[in-house]
Amino acid sequence: INIIGAEYIASAVKPEQFPEEKMLEIAFIGRSNVGKSSLINSLTRTRNLARISGTPGKTQTINFFKLRAKYYEDESVKDFYLVDLPGYGYAKTGKSARKIWASFIEKYFLTSEQIYCVCQLIDIRHDPMQSDIDMFKWLVKNNLPVFVIATKADKISKNAVNKNIARIKKALGVPELMILPYSSVKNDGRSYLLDFIGEALVE
Ligand code: GTP
Ligand code: MG
Repeated sequence: INIIGAEYIASAVKPEQFPEEKMLEIAFIGRSNVGKSSLINSLTRTRNLARISGTPGKTQTINFFKLRAKYYEDESVKDFYLVDLPGYGYAKTGKSARKIWASFIEKYFLTSEQIYCVCQLIDIRHDPMQSDIDMFKWLVKNNLPVFVIATKADKISKNAVNKNIARIKKALGVPELMILPYSSVKNDGRSYLLDFIGEALVE
């Protein structure tokens, strides 16, 4: 598919604020600063559709972006949502803020019926943190399809990419898991992810 349109639709902290129009959703979750918003901009080839910041904790609401995909083969068009979520595991937010975080994100995951998959982003440079492992297991336990994406692949060598991917799989306890290396700077992984979404939309 080709992305021919991308627009911001809504920000929500509770289900009443979710967009009225229902469409297939691809959600992005991960630790603060892992590159969720950057990945959304890379997919849509925009610079500031999703706000990016060097300071963790930039995204504080559930943000819906409506995308329009066009198939190369028959030029048919389909709309869907990308859903940018606040990061987890950010120390400065404190315990009570973390609880609020957990409850409103949890509600989204457990009430939305349109989630096609949750893309969980993990920084390719480091082993997953306990919060990444906990999130992964929570999603699996709640029957949410998870697609793990290893971000910032441009920051390490090609050799290190394969090595680190294997370490992430091991830490998550699923050695046979498919993990996509991604670079929002170089757009590496972009066409794979678009194909994946394209297949989701025809189902
Ligand atoms: P929160 O909204 O705070 O949870 O963060 P986020 O996960 O949305 O991260 P964001 O996209 O704001 O990116 C955080 C920082 O990482 C920014 O300084 C980005 O420029 C940088 N970054 C994101 N993706 C990449 C990447 O693929 N390569 C490199 N080199 N830097 C990246
Ligand atoms: Mg963000």
